[in-house]
Amino acid sequence: MMLSILNKFLRVTRKKGDEWKDVVFPQKKNTFLIKCLGLLVIFISLSIFWDKVGNAIPRINFLGGLINLLLIGLLIVFWLGTTYLSIKGYLALFKRNKSWIANNLAYMIGSLKLYDEEYFETTNKDKVVREKRITRVIRIKYKETDKHVFVRIMRDGDRFTSEATKLGENLESSLGLELDSTNQTVHYAEYVFLKHKDERIALDSTVTSVNDSDEIKITGNISYELHKVPHSLIVGGTGSGKSFFILGKIVSYLKLSPQADLRIIDPKKADLSLLRFVTGFENKVATEANQICRILRETVELMEQRYTDYFNDVSAFGKTYRDFGLPPVIIIFDEFSAFMHSVDKKVAKEALDYVFTLVMKGRQAGVMIEILMQRPSADDLPTNIRAQMGFKAGLGAMDSIGYNMIFDTNNVEYKTVIEKGGGYIQIDGKHTAPVYFETPYIDKEFDFIAEIENLMQGR
Ligand SMILES: Nc1ncnc2c1ncn2[C@@H]1O[C@H](COP(=O)(O)OP(=O)(O)OP(=O)(O)O)[C@@H](O)[C@H]1O
Ligand SMILES: [Mg+2]
Repeated sequence: MMLSILNKFLRVTRKKGDEWKDVVFPQKKNTFLIKCLGLLVIFISLSIFWDKVGNAIPRINFLGGLINLLLIGLLIVFWLGTTYLSIKGYLALFKRNKSWIANNLAYMIGSLKLYDEEYFETTNKDKVVREKRITRVIRIKYKETDKHVFVRIMRDGDRFTSEATKLGENLESSLGLELDSTNQTVHYAEYVFLKHKDERIALDSTVTSVNDSDEIKITGNISYELHKVPHSLIVGGTGSGKSFFILGKIVSYLKLSPQADLRIIDPKKADLSLLRFVTGFENKVATEANQICRILRETVELMEQRYTDYFNDVSAFGKTYRDFGLPPVIIIFDEFSAFMHSVDKKVAKEALDYVFTLVMKGRQAGVMIEILMQRPSADDLPTNIRAQMGFKAGLGAMDSIGYNMIFDTNNVEYKTVIEKGGGYIQIDGKHTAPVYFETPYIDKEFDFIAEIENLMQGR
């Protein structure tokens, strides 16, 4: 009985670890006395309890040797268990009061003067004493999970309301953690920190080697399953690392089993168009408007064909291309906006219609599209297409207007991206706001063409 109560108590204290807690400022002074008192109470109640149990032992003597021994054994185990649990519970309480997060945040409140003080006059033995008192303190809540620390600065309409959204850097240095993402509502500004720094990975480790898995790793902390997030958008100015990112992704896609069937569209005849020299890619690279429309049309037809062949009766209900062992078909469309601007309206409309059909219907049939462009412009990529892109990445230094356009939000703080291949990413089902990331690292010596050639030959 007592054991179960204690257990319940412990579970409650443990659960509180991932509940929101308030930062108290000024921090309560020495609670040493209270803690000593707590230990004394545990000690006394255990003594009384064990006195009673100890007295009960002689009374069960009549049950005979073996059973008696068993009962005493059980009681000793019970006694040890209860003592252990009470002390553990007590220590948990002890620890909670000393959260380093609360301490650091309280210190920040003090050092940034995020509180208001007023003078009060009191009379003490006929003397007027002026005394400073804290009348208002910024309200901060925090929560800790395995991987993250969440901090919410409440916006209560006082002078801290506008302050709340500008504390990213201060919080980062107070906590000594990397800011992962921010989120803002009328009621609070939320900052999410990584407890363990995310790590850039090397290209070799981007595909999970587990059979049947189509998990693509992007960084140490970020990965996604291709069939759940089929369509992607990658935006970044020149030199930001788009080509390296997509070439890396091509290598990952070719490592999947079954191997992905890729089609490349590169209207600027740049890096990607060189893939046409790789055996197996000859008819799958398009650089001219008519070829581009042909590849798009053929892929739409392939998608329709898959629906006719595999999804033609009720037995296909709830199934996807993976259930039929079909490879994912992925169109990689580089320089999308440049293409839209360089062709006449009729061709642009035709291409857009195909892209729209693919993003709307492709998921189940495993037909996907990955769009790359330099600037995120709503005119070039209509909202109805953009809304279907579950994977969005913005690379390189970009103003927040640019980033906000990619992620369809307007209340995120972005830090300046310095690293080559660094940027922000948001994957449906994984992130609720864009987070900073770096694309898989690729060595200068890495020979993409040779690697892709090898993978195409199944080597
Ligand atoms: N993941 C990476 N690993 C190592 N180096 C990288 C990475 N990403 C980018 N770089 C470096 O940055 C340079 C520019 O990257 P990249 O060619 O991919 O840019 P881009 O966005 O495709 O530019 P453009 O729009 O001009 O085609 C590369 O030549 C490389 O030196
Ligand atoms: Mg490029």
